[in-house]
Amino acid sequence: MDASAVSQTGDNKSKNELYRPFMCSIEFVRPLTHTEKLFKLIRLDGQPFGHKPGQFVQVSIAGIGEAPISVSSSPTRGDYLELGVRKAGTLTGAMHELKVGDVIGLRGPFGTFFDTEAMKGRDLLLISGGCGLAPMRALIQYVEDCRDYFGKVTVLYGAKSPDDILYKDELIAWQNSDNLVCRYTVDNVPQGTCWDANVGLITELIPPLQIDVPKTVAVVVGPPVMYRFVIQELNSKGVRDKNIIVSLERYMKCGVGKCGHCTIDHLYCCIDGPVFSLKEVAGLKGAI
Ligand SMILES: Cc1cc2nc3c(=O)[nH]c(=O)nc-3n(C[C@H](O)[C@H](O)[C@H](O)COP(=O)(O)OP(=O)(O)OC[C@H]3O[C@@H](n4cnc5c(N)ncnc54)[C@H](O)[C@@H]3O)c2cc1C
Ligand code: FES
Repeated sequence: MDASAVSQTGDNKSKNELYRPFMCSIEFVRPLTHTEKLFKLIRLDGQPFGHKPGQFVQVSIAGIGEAPISVSSSPTRGDYLELGVRKAGTLTGAMHELKVGDVIGLRGPFGTFFDTEAMKGRDLLLISGGCGLAPMRALIQYVEDCRDYFGKVTVLYGAKSPDDILYKDELIAWQNSDNLVCRYTVDNVPQGTCWDANVGLITELIPPLQIDVPKTVAVVVGPPVMYRFVIQELNSKGVRDKNIIVSLERYMKCGVGKCGHCTIDHLYCCIDGPVFSLKEVAGLKGAI
């Protein structure tokens, strides 16, 4: 299969929907780590979000600005959005001050998504690092909810340290689930921290895997430094670029292909991505 993602560029949205935020209320907020919080949002107008795993939204707070954030929940869980947000600067810092009942704006969902139709019948190898688990969680939830459609499902996750692990409870639940194989690791364990799981880079989790190469689709989402080494390990297992899907992050402004801030060679990350087949971007300067 050439697992190229299907593009949802917003072409089917009216201009109003592309540019004007709709209002959402915060249903709950919970800390994920010392720098990340999970927000659950519902639309005030009762309209469906219409999101797919892998897409992102533009979060907007009046008087402050906008930021692209991946949708972290699957549409199979209901008509709400969950966003896992790292406090990085102005907008995300303001988001971290929000409370249940506060109202914010959203535009989207935007961008390409993980093509779950094309993944049906395939073994899935879902590899994420750091904040990459945010969009990957939406796909994992989707796969859990439509489990019969997929072959063997393996989830690999890497974080810098035990304190940086996102969705810890869910990782443990996935590890204990009969429906999928889940392994996670941390780069370092600070002295005095209690930790009885793997220590080492995420790449070290790949060589021991038994992979049915022709049947496998790998999905990779993580910090820029992770891609090259994970892809090398996958290639050395025999997984070819056309069966590797990546989600890439670029600095974005408009989110709808108008401002040119997010270019990767001739592609716009916001409308041609963020989800790409590796085959599509492997040769492009600065993509990986
Ligand atoms: C498609 C996409 C999906 C994303 N998903 C998530 C997510 O699920 N959770 C999450 O926490 N973050 C996510 N991000 C990153 C998030 O958009 C940035 O952290 C956010 O825009 C920072 O905005 P700010 O106003 O808080 O920071 P600013 O005050 O604007 O900047 C703070 C610092 O963050 C840097 N920065 C801003 N945007 C980016 C970016 N896109 N990539 C790297 N550095 C950036 C700035 O250069 C600056 O150093 C995503 C980005 C993209 C493009
Ligand atoms: S963010 Fe404006 S063109 Fe992509």
